[in-house]
Amino acid sequence: MDICRSIDAMRTWREGAGRVALVPTMGALHDGHLTLVARARDWLDARGGGRVVTSIFVNPAQFGPTEDLDRYPRQEAQDLDLLSRAGCDAVFLPQAADIWRPGAQTHVQLSQLGGILMGRLRPGHFRGVATVVTKLFNIVQPQAAAFGEKDYQQLTLIRRMVADLDIPVTILPVPTVREADGLAMSSRNQRLTPADRAAAPVLARALDRAQAMAGQGAGVSALRRAIRDMLRAEPRADIRSIDIRDAEDLSRVQSIDRAVVILLAVRFGDVLLIDQRVAHP
Ligand code: PAJ
Repeated sequence: MDICRSIDAMRTWREGAGRVALVPTMGALHDGHLTLVARARDWLDARGGGRVVTSIFVNPAQFGPTEDLDRYPRQEAQDLDLLSRAGCDAVFLPQAADIWRPGAQTHVQLSQLGGILMGRLRPGHFRGVATVVTKLFNIVQPQAAAFGEKDYQQLTLIRRMVADLDIPVTILPVPTVREADGLAMSSRNQRLTPADRAAAPVLARALDRAQAMAGQGAGVSALRRAIRDMLRAEPRADIRSIDIRDAEDLSRVQSIDRAVVILLAVRFGDVLLIDQRVAHP
């Protein structure tokens, strides 16, 4: 597995690489990320082969001033070991100063999708995501890139951005990978206390319940009430938001007459967990 620590090194590697699929990450890798690597590999194999590149970059531009940038887990040696065993061909590990150069003025901002839901809770977050993903696409020039449904709004926004800007990258969505008890895998799970870790699967249970109710004809307010009641029954869960939106464009819905996505943001201690589920009428 090749390691490229600068933009120049990545571009040089890219020259002879043929078809490439990219997996953008911030490191602290777990089976969710490795499933994205496997999805990228499958996409390439279906087209006669190619190389998988994973990027590891803890992107300062997507963290707010009071957020956990400094506490974000960094475990490079372990990440490289996991990636090489997962069959990744190259890793792009740039320095922050290489990506964010002084005097930069150009940003990618989605006028609606960037400001709703998580974008309201985290102002500027999606501008940082959209800009860094655009830069990664320009540096690595992949034919495809894999993103997890776990970060559903991020995936929706990247799809919109690629369509809006005619970026020639196929977006590969990957279903959320979960622990045995249903908790969505996340590097943040490491920061949960044992008691909060034991309580956190309530998110997935509430989503299971709501999804089943939607299939039986329940409406938006009944779903919201059922989720709220289940989460409130868990005293450690501090509900930040429960949203039910159109699964395609995240617009508001009055009734469940098409696919919707249920988006939860719940705090346990100082750790904000998110989870989502697509539900059909
Ligand atoms: P990060 O949180 O490291 O996630 C990298 C990718 O892994 C994202 O596409 C995310 O949705 C996916 N992922 C995380 N947990 C997952 C799980 N349990 N199942 C499936 N996929 C999962 O998301 C980011 O980094 C950054 O915003 C990034 C896109 C790299 C831009 O900086």
